[in-house]
Amino acid sequence: MHPDLPLSVGSLQEFQLRRPEASFTGWFYSLGVEAYELLKPFASDILHPDEMRYFTPLPAERRRISFLLGRFAAKRALRPCLEGVEFADINLVPGIFKNPVVCCPMREPWQVSITHSDAIVSAIAFPMVHPMALDVESINAEKVPAMATQIQDGERAEAIRCGLDIPSASTLLWTAKEALSKTLHTGLTCSFTLFKVHDLARINEAELKGLYTNFTQYKFHAWIRHGCVLTMALPRRTEIIFESGRPHLPAPIQDAGASGNSIIKP
Ligand SMILES: CC(C)(COP(=O)(O)OP(=O)(O)OC[C@H]1O[C@@H](n2cnc3c(N)ncnc32)[C@H](O)[C@@H]1OP(=O)(O)O)[C@@H](O)C(=O)NCCC(=O)NCCS
Repeated sequence: MHPDLPLSVGSLQEFQLRRPEASFTGWFYSLGVEAYELLKPFASDILHPDEMRYFTPLPAERRRISFLLGRFAAKRALRPCLEGVEFADINLVPGIFKNPVVCCPMREPWQVSITHSDAIVSAIAFPMVHPMALDVESINAEKVPAMATQIQDGERAEAIRCGLDIPSASTLLWTAKEALSKTLHTGLTCSFTLFKVHDLARINEAELKGLYTNFTQYKFHAWIRHGCVLTMALPRRTEIIFESGRPHLPAPIQDAGASGNSIIKP
């Protein structure tokens, strides 16, 4: 690995996946999109040669940022699980439905899930025996009409009963559906109405949870902070535990130093 590669640009957190019969460890990594300028000179140290062949000719800056930072976040999350494997030796190959497949020497099979918003890029690494995924979205009132096409009235009403305003409620429901679609690897190739949610409940000021009507074996946890919703879909009987209580989401640059969000109505 290049000695100057700035490994400390984001935040790495371990989490526990506790089930009645077994426990697993996973890793969460998150960083702000402004890290792109710092990481860009190290692209060939971060990306596998196959990933470099995709990245180098990319014309759109937005995709260059999401691809490089997404790969970096996923490899940072994988690093504690893979002893002595260099970033550039890990190839995150897109599956036929675009799900990232970890290709590198591994003692046990690990999987990653990647998500990007306009401000944040996050990834988790977790054992393949324990399916899960994540999604992050900025809360933006302009996106509400598009999200509304995939949200049923009852779902929105439940989210509003939990004290969310309409943009936050819509974003939370959308991310819950997208996170399950990634867990199942379908993505948007099937109707999001299948991923109907119910039993939404607030755990604390910034964390909510809920269940899926048609996929009763899964649940989701969502954290709202710094104008973003981060949601993880995971097996229903798994308790997810972060030592610090929640995944760390970086504050957008203009908000750095702000204490947190205020998008949940009092
Ligand atoms: C999954 C999906 C809903 C994510 O939407 P998005 O707005 O790009 O959202 P995010 O930024 O949160 O997530 C993007 C990441 O999700 C992952 N992803 C994409 N499709 C995925 C799938 N089917 N299953 C699991 N993860 C998937 C990828 O890692 C991707 O990042 P990358 O391209 O940099 O590797 C959307 O990409 C999708 O529907 N993909 C599958 C459909 C598709 O493209 N099919 C083409 C072949 S039929």
